[in-house]
This record gives sequence, structure tokens and C-alpha cells, in this order.
Amino acid sequence: MIFDTHAHYDDEQFDEDRRELLHSMAENGVGRIVNVSASYASCARVVDMVQEYPFMYAAVGIHPDEVGDLNEETFARMKELFLRDKVVAVGEIGLDYYWDNESHAIQKKWFIRQLELARELALPVLIHSREAAADTMDIMKEYGGGLKGVIHCYSYSREMAKEYVKMGFYIGVGGVVTFKNARKLKETVEEIPLEAIVLETDCPYLAPVPFRGKRNHSAYIRYVAEEIAGLKGLTYEKVVAQTEMNAEKLYGIVR
Ligand code: NI
Repeated sequence: MIFDTHAHYDDEQFDEDRRELLHSMAENGVGRIVNVSASYASCARVVDMVQEYPFMYAAVGIHPDEVGDLNEETFARMKELFLRDKVVAVGEIGLDYYWDNESHAIQKKWFIRQLELARELALPVLIHSREAAADTMDIMKEYGGGLKGVIHCYSYSREMAKEYVKMGFYIGVGGVVTFKNARKLKETVEEIPLEAIVLETDCPYLAPVPFRGKRNHSAYIRYVAEEIAGLKGLTYEKVVAQTEMNAEKLYGIVR
């Protein structure tokens, strides 16, 4: 079944039909979902939510746009959430030089602190990196050795993707791969092994074609898997089964 490795179901865009939508996932071929926090305020919400749904797990971490909320006290409080059940990763964390909400120095500081936290907890990391290719790679080389994780919503060159794969990381592929103008990502998917790819929505954002621009949700991953199957000359079933195994291995979730 489909494994959505990265979703944001605490988002207010799901307030009206969250329960109904999540309860329809199994019948739409979605087996598991990792619900990912972004802001400090979202961390506890995300962890609470996954306790209600047997097929959901949580990732706790602060997105680079939101690291302004972090100080030693909030960081310590966030850390306590890892004592709760079903928290399987640190994320999403990284660098975002597109929005540039915080200085690069502050972003790097908290990115590194959260990588160190993942090492301490022996958990995988979910990396957000936008227009910060070189700095992200530098930090992952210096602080990411031995860690498992996903380069989420991958948007850089295929050469760099291959380098991350060599370092043992997975490449997160979502709705963008179905966009007509996503030539670079399509080439990356063609070239890296299926064993290095995990599926993700980043919902409510980045819905695939034919829902581009609409609210995204995990069942739409079907279109992403179909696109990957077409690009790699594989069956849809093979793509879903292998990426599910990849995600289970990544998060240490056994059936
Ligand atoms: Ni995300």
C-alpha cells in the first residue's frame, strides 16, 4: 500500500473534514502516513493527532522558516515530545533561503542542533532545503554522517541526488514530479534507483496533476507513483510496493 512519508494533517485546510478524510485512506490504497510538524506550535498537535489513528506516525522538528520560535527552553520542551508513542523521525528541519525568514546563521545553528538531536535519539531526519543546495550538503557532510533520512521535496540536480543516495539518504518525491515543467526532477527520478525513493505529499501543499493548485492529500500519491512508474518503465504496483518497503526501513516500522 501507499506510504505517505511526509504530510501536514494538522494544517487548518483539513479542519472541516480531517477525520472523514483520514478514515477513507485505507480504501484509497494508503497504508501509512507520517504526520510532520513544522512550527513549534504544531509539534504537540501533530503528536497528539497520530495517537488517534493506528496508521499514522509523527515527526517532530522545527522548519527553517520557523526556527525563530526556538530557544533553549522551547527546544527542551520539544525534546520531551520524543518520549511519546509513535514519534519516528526528527523533521522537518533544514535551510530555506527562498523565504529567508531567519538569518542563515540562525537557520544553520538550529539545523545542526536538530541533526545532533536525531543522532542522540537514533532517529531519521526529514530535510527541507530550498535554494540552499551547497550549505545543506556541507552541513549534511559534516553533521549527517551515519544518520538516515529523506531529502524531502527534492529540487536540486541529479548529480547531487546521486551524492545523497551514496551517503545513504532517500530522495522524497511528491506532486511536483507530475508537473510539466519539472524536467530536472523527472531526470533525477529516471537516474536514481527505486530503492532510494520514498513517496510523499507534503499535503495540503503540492497536489499532483490533475489536482495541481488544489488541496493535496495522501490518496493523490497515486498520481505520483504512476508518474514514477512511467519514467522508470516499471509497473505502478512495483513502485508502490518498493517505496513502501523503503519507508518501512527508513522509519523502522514493521508490518
Ligand atoms: Ni513539509
